[in-house]
Amino acid sequence: MGDDHLKIYRAEILHFLDDPAIAGEAESYQYFSDGVLVVKNGRVEAVGPSHELLPNLPAELEVVHYRDCLILPGFIDCHVHYPQTEIVAAYGAQLLDWLENYTFPTEREFSDPNKARRVAELFLDELLRNGTTTALAIATVHETSVDAYFTAARTRRMRMICGKVLMDRNAPDYLLDTPETGYRESKALIERWHGKGRLSYAVTPRFAPTCSDEQLTRAGQLLREHPDVYLHTHLAENLDEVKWVKELFPMCSGYLDVYDHFGLLGRHSIFAHCIHLNAAEFALLHKTGSGIAFCPTSNLFLGSGLFNLTRAENKKVNVGFGTDTGAGTSFSLLQTINEAYKTQQLRGHPLSALKSLYLATLGGARTLDLDGVIGNFEPGKEADFVVLDYRSTPILALRLERCNRLADKLFVLAILGDDRAVKATYVLGKEAYRRGN
Ligand code: GUN
Ligand code: ZN
Repeated sequence: MGDDHLKIYRAEILHFLDDPAIAGEAESYQYFSDGVLVVKNGRVEAVGPSHELLPNLPAELEVVHYRDCLILPGFIDCHVHYPQTEIVAAYGAQLLDWLENYTFPTEREFSDPNKARRVAELFLDELLRNGTTTALAIATVHETSVDAYFTAARTRRMRMICGKVLMDRNAPDYLLDTPETGYRESKALIERWHGKGRLSYAVTPRFAPTCSDEQLTRAGQLLREHPDVYLHTHLAENLDEVKWVKELFPMCSGYLDVYDHFGLLGRHSIFAHCIHLNAAEFALLHKTGSGIAFCPTSNLFLGSGLFNLTRAENKKVNVGFGTDTGAGTSFSLLQTINEAYKTQQLRGHPLSALKSLYLATLGGARTLDLDGVIGNFEPGKEADFVVLDYRSTPILALRLERCNRLADKLFVLAILGDDRAVKATYVLGKEAYRRGN
């Protein structure tokens, strides 16, 4: 392995090879209490115990040693709204009022490309500060909001998926497109950005209530014309929303059936929330290979409900975490795990630390069909990773003194950890964020 481009990182290392619910917890991960991650030209060259790997590496190479730290694959956020960064923590409303009172007026401002650029840059830096290296993001209805996002992501070399909102009814006039302009602008964006470097496009009807039949038909047309782009939308988040969808689409048997009717389900289709779905709808998500973004901080904040993760597991539906900021209250996948744990406690199924860290990494990558390139440290994968500091706060350090088992240690780190626990974030093997001390 004598190569100038080799970089060596030493710390505790954890990554997943499979879903703990499928493979069994013990078989689902690799953990090295004193591990080494070898990176070559931005990709994983090797991972393993230091006593096995270090003797075979050129002695003159520098080893970056993170003591009292855990290296994990970069976190993956499967549902987030970058233009809502400024409205995190808006008081007092559930979904439909929250959209009208807070969201739409803010999104209006993204017709200004300078505004979009400023927020996109701040947002992506915030993701890096939280250890997140990939996201499936929603922009606004404005074409330029997507250009701003992809431009900022390209500069940071981050693997990102984004799309322009399609929305032609039931929102203020100033935010509406039409089936035709929505189609044309989405197509132009796909041609400009999809598959360029680490960037991918998502056709993004906001949700069924703000899209006419004709617009959903056009969304289906875009997917047929560009089979590898994503479909990203919201589904069954709030009971008033579900009722409204029944009134707007009386010919459909349920909310998911609306999207199915227009040909929007598939391996690259991601539906945020999915709280109020029945078992048959979960089965259809599985059958079509569609994925779910589970957004616990948002679901609790907007009072939307408790996602049924056990049902998703039983029905073998791909699930990843979404922060869903601004309805979500934290950019941190650790804080997202914290709230996910509480939602599942209320359902009577405590979520394990291993399963939740799987969801934040390889589970997200699988949901986005990106597990061939990111999500764990198999050789050849893109070297996106986060360094978490076990001693980042006095309470965390104190609490960890009482943990002997790996599962306990990881649980405490996930529940008490947040952006302060992120010591560094690496994108394609290069440091993209380092915490000040
Ligand atoms: N449903 C439709 N639009 C939105 C949005 O912006 N946020 C959330 N949480 N749900 C939505
Ligand atoms: Zn959302």
